[in-house]
Amino acid sequence: MSSSSRPLSWLKQQPGRAPHLSFGADYNPDQWPREVWDEDIALMREAGVTIVSLAIFSWARIQPAKDEWDFAWLDEIMDLLHAGGIQVDLATATASPPPWLTTLHPEILPVTVNGDTVWPGARQHWRPTSPVFRDHALRLVDAMAERYGDHPALVAWHVSNELGCHNIYDFSDDAARAFRLWLERRYGTIEQLNHVWGTAFWSQRYGSFEQILPPRLAASHPNPTQQLDFKRFSSDALKEYLVAEREVLRRHTPDVPVTTNFMVMHETRGMNYPDWAAEVDFVSNDHYVMPSEQDRDELSFSANLTGNIAGGRPWFLMEHSTSAVNWQSVNLAKREGELLRDSLTHVAHGADAVCFFQWRQSAAGAEKYHSGMVPHAGADSAVFREVVRLGETLRTLAPLAGATRSTAPVAILFDWESWWASEQDSHPTDRLRYRAEALDWYTALLNAGIRADVVPTGTPLERYRVVIAPILHVVPDALAASLSAYVELGGHLVTTYFSGIVDENDHVFLGGYPGALRDLLGIRIEEFAPLLDTEQALLDTGVTGTLWTDRIEVTGADVSVLARYASGEFAGLPAVTRRDTGDGTATYVSTRLRPAGLAGVVDALLARAGVESELPAALRGVVEVTRRTQGSEDYWFLVNRTAEPVDLGALDGDVVLGHESSAPGQTATLSARGVVVLRRPVDAPPLGGSPEQHELRVGAH
Ligand code: GAL
Repeated sequence: MSSSSRPLSWLKQQPGRAPHLSFGADYNPDQWPREVWDEDIALMREAGVTIVSLAIFSWARIQPAKDEWDFAWLDEIMDLLHAGGIQVDLATATASPPPWLTTLHPEILPVTVNGDTVWPGARQHWRPTSPVFRDHALRLVDAMAERYGDHPALVAWHVSNELGCHNIYDFSDDAARAFRLWLERRYGTIEQLNHVWGTAFWSQRYGSFEQILPPRLAASHPNPTQQLDFKRFSSDALKEYLVAEREVLRRHTPDVPVTTNFMVMHETRGMNYPDWAAEVDFVSNDHYVMPSEQDRDELSFSANLTGNIAGGRPWFLMEHSTSAVNWQSVNLAKREGELLRDSLTHVAHGADAVCFFQWRQSAAGAEKYHSGMVPHAGADSAVFREVVRLGETLRTLAPLAGATRSTAPVAILFDWESWWASEQDSHPTDRLRYRAEALDWYTALLNAGIRADVVPTGTPLERYRVVIAPILHVVPDALAASLSAYVELGGHLVTTYFSGIVDENDHVFLGGYPGALRDLLGIRIEEFAPLLDTEQALLDTGVTGTLWTDRIEVTGADVSVLARYASGEFAGLPAVTRRDTGDGTATYVSTRLRPAGLAGVVDALLARAGVESELPAALRGVVEVTRRTQGSEDYWFLVNRTAEPVDLGALDGDVVLGHESSAPGQTATLSARGVVVLRRPVDAPPLGGSPEQHELRVGAH
């Protein structure tokens, strides 16, 4: 049964517990002596912690040998947490198999593309398709559910941990067997598979499914559709595993919601989360900041996408960090204000829970230099004081609990299949980065003060005035039809280079690029023209492009050329085009624009679509704005994107949260990296009003 037909959309209700935003961490008491636990609970209460995720990596402790179980410690800590008023999101504890299991059954260990065994010694060393692993893991899940299903502290089940973080691609014999079955289910006959995989090429024709292997290390580029199908299969295999654990849990506790922590962040692409989301009772996500020029935009982008994967409903931020992590090449501590701002940016995008990895920073093990809520320095520390402040802040925001995302005027379409397919090998360039292109458009919208939704494919588009679909490489017929219908109905669509090129089988649409979108865009391209790293394309608007160019021939009626190439082979030819049809438009951008170029396209597009920023002019680009709706009221989040204080001027609304805020009509200041939350009626006018009303000074302090 999918979650849509189930009522379990959030934590199990506990009697007497008012709606609130959850706050807490992964808690690993089994790493600490018993006497630390009492201090833990006392400090959790001081910080206002409401929930912990427990026993994530405790398999070896709970089941020290095949037929030996030790629940006493877990019983005790469950009871202590409950007595302290702290809820438990209980892990199934299957994330990392214990040494006795891998000694007994080395055949559960994953195999790399090169045929190497992934040995125990770290974590998550199991094959998603191993029947032996599954038997042992489900036995543990069953034991956990049996023992704790009725425990009053239990409010959610946490399946495994970050499924696929280290084991998404396994090339073992188990994987080969499961891949063949998956292919047989998908294609029915070997003839159909031969057609779809294009095996007439390089003598790859298969006589039976038994001859098929995962795309293991090969002499040259493996078959591209085989690669794409292996990505689909690998995501499905872990999804199936998630469902297997979930079914055991539901058998015992149909009233306890089941979740698992996704990793919507950066380049984590192996798991097709929009496809997984229907299998959990509520969406959870982990997010870690990577140092980069766009780090906070990336955080916002990921939180935004997570919120839309959750269908606009509240979601659970299961992990982020209070300060440095330990797994980057250089691990930076968070700067002043970042802990709070990062947390609240997730809330701004629909999170009803803010949790961290982990409660107490480890003294030993590979993550001992990873920050926690209680750092090595102890509770007498800036980090813990910030944690306490965050707890207070989340209590202030309790009325927000349950609020949904308010639909934005603009969408960025984020398509997992295009992500997978556009970055495969043997392409016109290996420099293309799907997510980076999407993130750049998002940054351009933030810079313009525009609220946007980052939405997975399948989201109804009619609700958006503008849809930006960067590198929409894979365009099955149904998607092409929905994009055409969107434009015909008056929508404004933008797409870029390498879009509309292949169908779901990774077969090229013939007759000129961008095949599936050629008529919609009114253009035709005969050859790709990627750029070397040393090259740039100059446009007649004064901006430059990198990575890609196209020789565009305008074929449709009502196509205007918004920018032309100003140098090189294509000088004088179109670089950016727009086809007008009725009230709608379809724009094509043939190069990878930099911020100035994107700003120009975005401005023209918004003007054509009649979309204006909801922010006063002086705040555009400086402040990120989001809205969540609770009944007849909207909560507006204003997030300072800069490290300078910002004078917000006279803002119309009740200030729910803000550092130096005041009554309606009076000026409010947004501190450096700060967040202000306003409550306003849903039909209130934009904050922007007319420019004269807002003589704002930015960074005036
Ligand atoms: C996550 C994981 C946690 C911890 C954390 C460190 O990937 O779920 O267990 O390892 O990263 O940042």
